[in-house]
Amino acid sequence: MTRYAFDVVGELYFSRMFGFMKDKHDYRGYIASLDILLPVMTAACVMPTYVRPVFLLGGAVVPGVWDGLKKLRDIEQAAESCVHERLRLLEEGNEFKRKDIVASPFEIQQEKGAKVDFGIVDVKLEIYIALLAGSDTTAAAITSVLYHLMKTPSAYRRLVEEIDSATESGQPSRPNIRYNEAVKLPFLDACCKEGMRVHPSVGLTLPRHVPPGGCSISGQWFDAGTRVGVNAAVIHFDKSVFGDDADESKPERWFREDATNMDRYMFQARTRAPLYPHCFGAGARTCIGKNISLCAMYKVVPQLLRSYHLELAEPRVLWETHNYWFNKPSNVQTRLRRR
Ligand code: HEM
Repeated sequence: MTRYAFDVVGELYFSRMFGFMKDKHDYRGYIASLDILLPVMTAACVMPTYVRPVFLLGGAVVPGVWDGLKKLRDIEQAAESCVHERLRLLEEGNEFKRKDIVASPFEIQQEKGAKVDFGIVDVKLEIYIALLAGSDTTAAAITSVLYHLMKTPSAYRRLVEEIDSATESGQPSRPNIRYNEAVKLPFLDACCKEGMRVHPSVGLTLPRHVPPGGCSISGQWFDAGTRVGVNAAVIHFDKSVFGDDADESKPERWFREDATNMDRYMFQARTRAPLYPHCFGAGARTCIGKNISLCAMYKVVPQLLRSYHLELAEPRVLWETHNYWFNKPSNVQTRLRRR
């Protein structure tokens, strides 16, 4: 199932450059390489910077890691060629009308790059991160939604009923569900939020440096330069926000009276606190792929459930999750039957 989700998501970001869907397999082993590299990259990112080069040099002699690093370079080159191609089009006077993941950082760079210190190198970096981070995160979120639905038959039934009766009334359309139709399904919305809440795709605390002069966070003083951050899971399982049953997956919680407050904590930028992470990050470096990811999730889940009946092959067996930067689920053995 994870692979399925990855392939669908991969189609959105990789297909033009790599052809995952066209070839219907792990094209040039990119997915496998990222799997090998993620633990290495995660360890390198959290260790003190002066140890990092030695660690990476040592890691490169481990079988698979060197190969993985070369594939990482391929992905970097793909990001570079994307940006160069767009630059060429712009230089030839072609105004780019399509709003895609490459266009947005370009617009920022062209309109206020000098002011906010955001150059072509930063555009390339954004595309590179998007290629690396966009698929696993979305695949983890979709897998979480489906896994928890299969684990909770009452929620599964309620969602399928919602999708079926809405389809009978004409929306969502056939054969393809549109995003603007999917977001109008309240229980689907609740299931997607709950799937992301109980299983935040990013498992690493993404830190910020305290600015010059230091600052106070939640009554605690931090000197300038201190690295601070909060893991998304700390917010997502906060019982004071999500209730005493915060540890359980219950889509119904999103219909409770305090759901607006839950929404604010999980998704929206807050003004009350200077630092507030949530599942897509916060502030100036928040996730730029949030909308495309939500679009994929809200479309893939109902599209699948409308056409297929899904059930766990071994209902008593729990999934496995491994947290190396991304919280990657595995062992979600699923039976699919056409409805
Ligand atoms: C469920 C899906 C996703 C989750 C949970 C997620 C989460 C995050 C988080 C937590 C950050 C760090 C934000 C911060 O430090 O405040 C981030 C950054 C980023 N994400 Fe995502 N992401 C997802 C999907 C995507 C997709 C689909 C793309 C691209 C197509 C993408 C591209 C990026 C990029 C480029 C950054 C770096 C932004 C910057 O530093 O300026 N993400 N994401």
